[in-house]
Amino acid sequence: MKKVITYGTFDLLHQGHINLLKRAKALGDWLIVGVTTDNFDLERGKMNTCNNLMERIDAVKATGLADQIIIEEYKGQKIDDIQRYGVDIFVIGSDWEGKFEYLEEYCQVVYLPRTEGISSTMLREERPNVTIGIIGTGSIARRFVPEAGFVESVSISAVYNPRESQGKAFCEEFGIPHLACSCEELFEHCDAVYVASPHYTHYDYTKKALLAGKHVLCETPLVLCGQQAEELLLLAEDKKLVLMMAHKTAYCPAFIHLISILKSGVIGEIVEVNASVTTLTDEHSEKLDNKRFGGSMNENAVFPLLPIFKLLGTDFRNINFYSKMKKGVDMYTKAVFRYDTAIASFQVGLGVKTEGNMTISGTKGYAYVPAPWWKTDYFEIRFEDQNQNKKFFYPFSGEGLRYEIKDFVSNILHHGSVYSKIVPKELIAMAEVQEMYLRGKNVFLI
Ligand code: CTP
Repeated sequence: MKKVITYGTFDLLHQGHINLLKRAKALGDWLIVGVTTDNFDLERGKMNTCNNLMERIDAVKATGLADQIIIEEYKGQKIDDIQRYGVDIFVIGSDWEGKFEYLEEYCQVVYLPRTEGISSTMLREERPNVTIGIIGTGSIARRFVPEAGFVESVSISAVYNPRESQGKAFCEEFGIPHLACSCEELFEHCDAVYVASPHYTHYDYTKKALLAGKHVLCETPLVLCGQQAEELLLLAEDKKLVLMMAHKTAYCPAFIHLISILKSGVIGEIVEVNASVTTLTDEHSEKLDNKRFGGSMNENAVFPLLPIFKLLGTDFRNINFYSKMKKGVDMYTKAVFRYDTAIASFQVGLGVKTEGNMTISGTKGYAYVPAPWWKTDYFEIRFEDQNQNKKFFYPFSGEGLRYEIKDFVSNILHHGSVYSKIVPKELIAMAEVQEMYLRGKNVFLI
């Protein structure tokens, strides 16, 4: 029996795919089709697929052309598959001409002509597009625009900055079509808003945008008061709008997998979480302005709060904060949480530098995420017996904002049905912790 194998993403399955599968099948007696996993595509820098793995497998199955479907999940797998399944012919479209000579050592390699005039990319481009208006044009917005370029079905349509000259320069630099003179004007030119203004303005802008019927992606921290977080989440729910905090760690592949691995019990019962985020900052920076809610807690606390809440929940008994102050803001704060069966702590600093790693300790082992853990592509699970240690590597492309943008856009296009990477309870608890600190509850100065 002559076995033929071919691979592809098969996103939004189209006539080009069907033609290729038919021609591949005609070359032998048994056709194996390898469909790439979502993670493998991410690793190859392809993060714009519209159908997930199951949908893509189902679509290939429905053609009735594949005798066997396998999934492709790692680089180098093609050689393994060819040997494992005793494949005679490897087939791929002519767009890959010259890329698979290395397989000739194992089987015959055939490039089949591509069907002209159709591709998944073309079909994706025809799908609905989400337009985003940006409020604020600081350093994070500057990183956001190029990152949005890696995400399908999104475009930046307008910008608003109360300091008009800054907004104008931003539009010119990034080729953004519309400079709005007010929030209201911005809302007229977009479906969704990215709030990238100083944090003391987040509540007002987010509320205005939601009331105007716009989805909102708000920079960290969402707000600094529990009741405000609750109000905004209720408003979004009521208006059936997506409201997300732009916490890039929550959306990055390594962090998501770390949490699921630990939740599955590999390190036993989790007894302590410790994470540190410090960024030495210029003394004159707005991040240290006490009139604008500057300081280490306001700036950075939501980062370590995420793994703490994900792993230990939000029902802590109490928190003590220890702060080193300068000119009315905390240059450095250590927070210690007491849970019923665990403890957690974090360090945040703008004027003190620490090792920015994270460790999660359990009864059977521990997880170590090296600095900067909040934008990691790598972590280790370590045990008493070092032979059991395991290292995990993931993609973390560019500035890492593309993952949160992709989630935001898919959530809008799928009417809010995408699983929330930070659930409302966690968003509210984050704001409550910030509020506790601002009110001085259990804050000890050093
Ligand atoms: N293919 C083809 N003719 C097309 C499109 C794809 O023969 N018009 C072939 C590819 O060469 C490959 C297989 O179909 O052998 C699966 O390709 P895939 O990358 O999934 O499809 P594309 O439409 O090329 O996807 P994209 O636009 O995302 O690159």
